[in-house]
Amino acid sequence: MKKKRHLILPILLFGLLLSGCNQKTEEKSSAPSTNETASPAKPAGVPVNIDPALAKKGEALYNQNCIFCHQADAIGKPGFAPSLTNKEFLSVSSDKFLLGTIRDGRPGTGMPPFAHLGRSQVEAIVAFLRSHSTEPNISAIVDAQPDAHGDPRLGKLWFDQICSTCHGFDGDGYSAGSTGTAIGKAGFLNKVSDGFIRHTIVYGRSNTRMLGFKGPAAMANLTDSEIDDIITYLRTVPSKS
Ligand code: HEC
Ligand code: HEC
Repeated sequence: MKKKRHLILPILLFGLLLSGCNQKTEEKSSAPSTNETASPAKPAGVPVNIDPALAKKGEALYNQNCIFCHQADAIGKPGFAPSLTNKEFLSVSSDKFLLGTIRDGRPGTGMPPFAHLGRSQVEAIVAFLRSHSTEPNISAIVDAQPDAHGDPRLGKLWFDQICSTCHGFDGDGYSAGSTGTAIGKAGFLNKVSDGFIRHTIVYGRSNTRMLGFKGPAAMANLTDSEIDDIITYLRTVPSKS
């Protein structure tokens, strides 16, 4: 039974995704968004406290260095640069992840390194981004989740059928003409925990093409072990390419 489902469901989904994936705009798709209703309850996190003066300084730095790609108010531009004010993104991101990603950029993608700004200026930018938070920060809880120990061969099957339609084969991201980021590259994988990836797969990111993958109304209702298969596979990608 289980084997059969692995073959039939991805084929059905593939057509569904192809029809929805090439849209240039981020309008709400007709597929039901499951972020608010059908997904399991999110863990409770810690409230976000921002120093307004620091955030103001960060806003000026953001407008000088980041706005060209990430757009005004960091809402992002599909297929070009992701949103940095998306609520799920901010709530799951630790300071360490944000500071490190901005400092080092993501080699092989459009995201350049900003080490030359120095730590205190990057901290100000992070305060500006965090000032858009509407949910508590859950990064400590999510990063403490156990690592995935799934079956990479099954994970590749799911990845190629579902995820690659937006993230590109091998998770190459925008450079492959896709709408999703380069989740198969080391610049992303070396900075995130398996919990970060798992949480993003389950809950998605509202108002983007990244819908959640859990619950009866999801784009595909993946089980916990199927999600871990995908994460286990993703971890093998950069060492191969
Ligand atoms: C030249 C365009 C460009 C500029 C300028 C730029 N970024 Fe990016 N940024 C990108 C792209 C493209 C990605 C996605 C890379 C990928 O595919 O993984 C990205 C990804 C990110 C991410 C990870 C987001 C996620 O969803 O995981 C963060 C954080 C980020 N940028 C912050 C910044 C900040 C802060 C600045 C300014 C200091 C900045 N970026 C400037 C293009 C840019
Ligand atoms: C319909 C298109 C689409 C599909 C299918 C899709 N994604 Fe995404 N995904 C996106 C977009 C778009 C983003 C970035 C959202 C943004 O711009 O803020 C994203 C973001 C992510 C991120 C966060 C990456 C980062 O840079 O922080 C992860 C992890 C992720 N997706 C995993 C997956 C996995 C695993 C699958 C398959 C089960 C999948 N996605 C399927 C469109 C998609």
